[in-house]
Amino acid sequence: MHGDRKFDDQKIGWILVKMKLKRDIKNIVERKEAIMERQNYKTIFHPPTGQAIPKGSFFYKFLKYVERVTGKRSISNFIFQGTILTIFGGIPTIFGSILRPMVYRVILGKIDKSCLIEKNVRLAIPSRIFLGNRVFIGEYSYLDPKSNRTKIMLGNDVYISRLCRLSSGSSEDYIGKIVIEDSVHVGQNCFIDGTGKLKIGKDSLLGPNVAILSADHEFKNPTVPIRLQGAIPKAIVIEEDVWLGANVIVLGDVTIGKGSVIGAGSVVTKDVPSYSIAVGVPAKVIGKRG
Ligand SMILES: CC(C)(COP(=O)(O)OP(=O)(O)OC[C@H]1O[C@@H](n2cnc3c(N)ncnc32)[C@H](O)[C@@H]1OP(=O)(O)O)[C@@H](O)C(=O)NCCC(=O)NCCS
Repeated sequence: MHGDRKFDDQKIGWILVKMKLKRDIKNIVERKEAIMERQNYKTIFHPPTGQAIPKGSFFYKFLKYVERVTGKRSISNFIFQGTILTIFGGIPTIFGSILRPMVYRVILGKIDKSCLIEKNVRLAIPSRIFLGNRVFIGEYSYLDPKSNRTKIMLGNDVYISRLCRLSSGSSEDYIGKIVIEDSVHVGQNCFIDGTGKLKIGKDSLLGPNVAILSADHEFKNPTVPIRLQGAIPKAIVIEEDVWLGANVIVLGDVTIGKGSVIGAGSVVTKDVPSYSIAVGVPAKVIGKRG
């Protein structure tokens, strides 16, 4: 009798151990599968922004944020940069616009003489932003190199109106850069993306709301969300003395030749020869200048 009970207890014990083992193995397999799926996505599709906020511990997320805004995983650098931007970023009037370039010298990659930076200009990874002489950056503009392998370079006398956004890479995978040569005027609310490398030649003029888009989303695989399929960088060259009218959109893999005029609202999908006047969607050459 007594022996039987002992045997039953042993049996129940074994069943419980087996159940626990089964559960543990299932958990391990599930976790491994999830990791493999993520790695698979990463290697095949290079997702630039899998999650808006990365998964992981609070400290890991914090370090990711530090890297995103400073280009390095250095907390002291993050605190230093954050302190400068917080103290000086919002000072109004011309006084603030003159003071900021003097102070931002310590966080920017380069800033030459007589620049003006209006209030509430947002700078990410400022060490990868290079400004020439007499550059003007209007309020609420946002300059974002996105990774410490990319660059935003503005030549002498470049004028960036308010509310513009310049971003030069889409993630660590894409190392495009934006080069804006001397005396370029960028109108209000322009969106300038240099994921696939972008050059705007000297003396060019961008009207308001221009969008320059040097990358496409990959979308070949219909079973994976487009946002996870990565980007295809496509270089854009806008040669010197080009005028892009209001609301022009320039797509990737395009060169707009020297001295060309692109009419308001046009979408440039193909190369435009020098000194052309091109209008419409898609933009077609309707004449020559001069
Ligand atoms: C392109 C532009 C400069 C005019 O060039 P133009 O050589 O003088 O052209 P015209 O006015 O003679 O027009 C020629 C033809 O192109 C058409 N056209 C002109 N601009 C156009 C545009 N933006 N989109 C589509 N068609 C346009 C005209 O309707 C005309 O067509 P038609 O021959 O069938 O009548 C002007 O129309 C333009 O778009 N300016 C941009 C203004 C702007 O954005 N300012 C912001 C301040 S930076």
